[in-house]
Amino acid sequence: MRKEIILHDKTFKLYIDEYEIQKCIDKLAFELMNYYTNKQVILLPVLNGSFMFASDLMKQIIRDLEVSFVKVSSYKGNTQTSGRVDELIGLNTSVQGKHVVILEDIVDTGITVDKVISLLSTDNPASVEVCTLLFKPTAFLGKNPPRFVGRAIENKFVVGYGLDYNEMGRNLKEIYQLKEE
Ligand code: IMP
Repeated sequence: MRKEIILHDKTFKLYIDEYEIQKCIDKLAFELMNYYTNKQVILLPVLNGSFMFASDLMKQIIRDLEVSFVKVSSYKGNTQTSGRVDELIGLNTSVQGKHVVILEDIVDTGITVDKVISLLSTDNPASVEVCTLLFKPTAFLGKNPPRFVGRAIENKFVVGYGLDYNEMGRNLKEIYQLKEE
């Protein structure tokens, strides 16, 4: 395990090791299984960053559930006034009447999660909660704080375990924090 890494032009230092990450995941799986006993659950991992977290977490959830990977895309609307329009892509089943758990690698400002929730609400899910591996409470500006949090972290840039810096670092088993010179 490397103590420091360089990605592009920046140096990062080891922040959360593989063992600590797996402990957070075990805790989250336990909380989810308790909270949703006998409920119809659908997990919605938000791509790209959540792929590794979602994979490890769902293996620890010992019950039947649906999983649908989603992505938020933003495109230019076709009228002059519409500006940019958000769209949820990848969801190929209805969430009506289901208990939705949005899986995020990290909740920072909370804007992404707010968008996903507002796009889902038209389909009338029974409930929507957010489960995130990492949460930066001091950066959060959103309307929907995560109910399930693996670990709260300080407001510094991190990479690894799915999280990237300009598409580098996603494959790391550990989480590294930007080193300030
Ligand atoms: P939001 O600000 O909560 O909407 O975060 C949106 C997205 O920004 C997250 O899903 C991540 O992909 C990315 N992000 C936020 N903070 C970090 C970070 O520290 N490292 C890498 N990506 C981040």
